Amino acid sequence: MSNILVTGGAGYIGSHACKALSQTGYTPICYDNLERGHAWAVKWGPLERGDILDRKRLDEVFQKHKPEAVMHFAGYISVRESVTNPDLYYHNNVTGSQTLLEAMLEYGMDKIIFSSSAAIYGEPQHLPIKESHPLYPASPYGENKCEVEKMLQKYDEDHQIRYIALRYFNAAGADPDNEIGESHYPETHLIPLILDVAAGNRSEITIFGDDYNTQDGTCIRDYIHVSDLADAHVLAMNLLEKGSTSKYYNIGTGVGFSVNDVISKAKEITNKEIPVVIGPRRHGDPHILIGSAEKIKNDLCWNPKYQNLDEIIQTAWRWNQVIDQFT
Ligand code: UFG
Repeated sequence: MSNILVTGGAGYIGSHACKALSQTGYTPICYDNLERGHAWAVKWGPLERGDILDRKRLDEVFQKHKPEAVMHFAGYISVRESVTNPDLYYHNNVTGSQTLLEAMLEYGMDKIIFSSSAAIYGEPQHLPIKESHPLYPASPYGENKCEVEKMLQKYDEDHQIRYIALRYFNAAGADPDNEIGESHYPETHLIPLILDVAAGNRSEITIFGDDYNTQDGTCIRDYIHVSDLADAHVLAMNLLEKGSTSKYYNIGTGVGFSVNDVISKAKEITNKEIPVVIGPRRHGDPHILIGSAEKIKNDLCWNPKYQNLDEIIQTAWRWNQVIDQFT
């Protein structure tokens, strides 16, 4: 079956997508510079080390593997880091995507799935957020994702490269077979940090603000299991293969949990103490993000398997117990 080039395939979401691709008969060709991804996470196809900004290396890999399409995960992902270093983010996330699209053009490739983000919406004007919601990103990271969506639209109009942009809410959890999971350096995401506290590897979790306009004052997010997210990518790929026009979809659950909710659930599941400190707000954090995924459910029959926070935290906790064997 066909080769799919997966940029950032050694990263958290990319590696889960590689597994989902392989389980459905594709060969994922992982293209990753391993700056933030991990060689141990590449298990379902070859690893080609390279940067999305390196046009020569992209050309070599396209020539060698002749992929049918691209899944584009590679990019920096920290909202906070994007605020302190916007130029670095623009260069890697926006210029890197353009370099990739130019290489695709040269090799006559016309299908791409793009990792977009709920960060493109900014503070919500209605809930749950639908795809028609106006785009007011609150951070350079969100702006980067917006720019790449616009770039994709332009490449479609000018060169007939068809795309599906998937706007993720908060990816969380780990592979149910415990073969891969989340591993960032430094870790910034709420669930792995909380579980590190439960495991005794950190002393406390800092809540970034408890004075938001929410029921318990802490931010609310829509946590979507990474394997459900990965499945959505395969469905999106199938849709493009059937000749679909370009689309964009939210991927969330339609349900939100506050930071306090997540901490309580983690205490229950791990049966451990999780000391908490209240800190200041983090710049660029919307108070609430909950997504409507009705559009992808209707169009692609996407049917998420992990419908609650329990399973997300359970799989992440299982991964937390074995992660030291890999890193
Ligand atoms: N949080 C804390 N303490 C921490 C870490 C996080 O209170 O130590 C809070 C944050 O303020 C936020 C929530 O927990 O309210 C979730 O934070 P994460 O850092 O886990 O995730 P974000 O919501 O900031 O961002 C994630 C992805 C982005 C994506 C966004 C879309 O990292 O790429 O979800 O919803 F854009």
